[in-house]
Amino acid sequence: MSIKTSSLHSEFVANFKTELKVTSPGRINLIGEHTDYNNGFVLPTAIDKHIVFQFQKNGTDICNIYSATFDKMLQFNVNEVKQSDKEWENYILGVVNQIQIRNKTIGGFDCIIESYLPMGSGISSSAALECGLAYGLNEVFELGFEKIDLVKIGQKAEHTFVGTQCGIMDQFASVMSEKGHVILLDCQSIEHQLIPADFGDYQVLLLNTNVSHNLADSAYNTRVAECASVVAAIAKNNPEVKSLRNVSFKMLEDVKGEITTIAHQRAKYVLEENERVEKAVQALKSGDLKSLGIYMYSSHKGLQNDYEVSCAELDFLADFSKKYDQVLGARMMGGGFGGCTINLIHKNGVEEFVKDATKAYKEKFKIDLTSFTAVPSQGTATVAI
Ligand code: GLA
Repeated sequence: MSIKTSSLHSEFVANFKTELKVTSPGRINLIGEHTDYNNGFVLPTAIDKHIVFQFQKNGTDICNIYSATFDKMLQFNVNEVKQSDKEWENYILGVVNQIQIRNKTIGGFDCIIESYLPMGSGISSSAALECGLAYGLNEVFELGFEKIDLVKIGQKAEHTFVGTQCGIMDQFASVMSEKGHVILLDCQSIEHQLIPADFGDYQVLLLNTNVSHNLADSAYNTRVAECASVVAAIAKNNPEVKSLRNVSFKMLEDVKGEITTIAHQRAKYVLEENERVEKAVQALKSGDLKSLGIYMYSSHKGLQNDYEVSCAELDFLADFSKKYDQVLGARMMGGGFGGCTINLIHKNGVEEFVKDATKAYKEKFKIDLTSFTAVPSQGTATVAI
């Protein structure tokens, strides 16, 4: 096996007999940000960058998980799974715990994880980690879960052991995506439609700010709570309202005096973003990429000014892209406060744009920008050993 390890773990790697190899991808989201936990619409898909997992059962009660990327080992007894004080371990432990909560039994196993996803870049390396592990354990121990169960196991692991009240988008995209398509997901009904990602001469380019402001987790949960406060206020007189999905602009205006200005601003953004997703889907289906780009820019504006989950670095990049006719649209992607902008750009314009953006970003923030193109790809899958 061609994995570089410290001497501490080289024996583990050398003796590993891979039973199953799984790849689990990161994701992009064309539009529909912070709408998933509000039961709205999103338009994500998996990309051609993965975490790779190798599994073997070991016939004991002990689980040994080795992160080759970080040269770190996690060991635990499968009968004594509890939360850890290390974040990365909680993604693993949370998944095992969720499997056990569903009354399925797994034994000890060994796993090697290699990540090719930049962390904190908003392409959801966390969902890829949860879903790849859940998928692999489902296969190796023949647990009989459906794909949608794996999605929910990943999401719940994050709610419980990791502590982020995330929506379902990332795990859904990581598991359910199909090559060459984006997913229009209705987060209320969990119905989805695969839409051909037909970008013609255009492609998706990600610009990674390489910043990850640490207020991201707490701010995320605050946004969830702010949206819930609006729902609670409206539900007093409209008991059928269970989420912002059931809220109209009129209902929101009617309740304005009873909620905070901030909460009103957040909810207004969500209602607008849901409308934008539907329009963006029509634009994509009819090949009107210009309009799709305009919706992406409006989405960024809402995230920047109303939902307030952007940051100076993301705003700079989204704004900078407007100088280039070759870029049809750009916006921050994912939870926010750092990570990537997603750009819809003509193939001929990529080189010049990346060169100029890298230079301008370095001058402004003294940080190196990284960039990569993202191709709509297959979700979590078994690969040949
Ligand atoms: C993170 C969460 C998702 C979603 C996005 C914002 O990626 O994990 O559930 O809420 O932020 O759209």
